[in-house]
Amino acid sequence: MYTITGATGNTGKKIAEALIAKGQGVRVIGRSAERLRPLADKGAEPFIGSLEDASALTRAFTGMKAVYVMIPPNYQAENFRAYQNKVGEALSTAIAAAQVPYVVNLSSLGAHLPEKTGPIKGLYAMEQRLNKLDRAHVLHLRPTYFMENLFWSIHLIKTMGMNGSPLRGDLPIPMIATKDIAAEAIERLLRLDFAGKSTKELLGQRDLTMPETTRILGKAIGKPDLPYAQFSYEDAEKAMVGMGLSIDMARSFNEMYRAFNEGTLKPTEARSERNTTPTSIEEFSQVFAAAYKS
Ligand SMILES: NC(=O)c1ccc[n+]([C@@H]2O[C@H](COP(=O)([O-])OP(=O)(O)OC[C@H]3O[C@@H](n4cnc5c(N)ncnc54)[C@H](OP(=O)(O)O)[C@@H]3O)[C@@H](O)[C@H]2O)c1
Repeated sequence: MYTITGATGNTGKKIAEALIAKGQGVRVIGRSAERLRPLADKGAEPFIGSLEDASALTRAFTGMKAVYVMIPPNYQAENFRAYQNKVGEALSTAIAAAQVPYVVNLSSLGAHLPEKTGPIKGLYAMEQRLNKLDRAHVLHLRPTYFMENLFWSIHLIKTMGMNGSPLRGDLPIPMIATKDIAAEAIERLLRLDFAGKSTKELLGQRDLTMPETTRILGKAIGKPDLPYAQFSYEDAEKAMVGMGLSIDMARSFNEMYRAFNEGTLKPTEARSERNTTPTSIEEFSQVFAAAYKS
């Protein structure tokens, strides 16, 4: 049996559904019975609990052959790093107490860097924490920037007729679709072919600049001339706070954007068949168009 955290989110939901379809026992963690219901209807065992609660997680992890863990975003956190540490400690304490043999941890590109990467610093700390567990075999998946982040632009496109972010327009980003991250996690959870502590970088189908991405999304929503503008970090902070993010979270994202722009946040491995994933931005643009129109 497997326990899946973040089970109503981008990656966890797809992983839980695929494992159920393969006839595996799946326990899904979330904070709301209602949000977990579609998975429960498919055969998953819902577990209502918080990822900040080590004793609940220990119960959720006991008897599992493997768990899929992540530290979810918390856009309202006044101190995001403290929140990440709390969730990270609870998860690793529970993995140790429940003696879970195999762990797939959703980490990130750049998680080898301890500083100046915004939210990814907390994932560096999480990798270090899990690497100290004596018994568990741990695979850290390190995907790059999610295509699903582009959903954040929908409001901007609708209200201003443009796309924008602090990312440089000439920056190549190997953006990835979350279904391709899930596919890797599913395969590795089924095979359990990792031993000790290891990492795997995951890149998208090809490198993309934001203006090219914007043109492709624009075409899918009937706006082929949709422009892209690079925003200043100050304007981006104001916009993110205006959308309801805490100041700490907005600054953390800006630190990450800066790390991308300055070239410190980039793949450590050359592109290869091993780390390249299949979903193109053209394919994702249809998903984006459906969300834009809904
Ligand atoms: N966005 C990127 O470009 C990027 C790139 C690399 C790595 N990452 C990493 O990917 C991770 C996010 O993965 P994702 O996109 O698959 O997740 P996601 O879609 O953000 O979903 C997270 C899930 O976690 C659950 N959750 C949130 N807080 C919780 C809590 N306190 N207790 C229990 N459950 C909680 C939520 O479910 P309920 O609301 O139903 O409880 C939600 O469905 C983060 O660690 C992020 O740093 C992101």
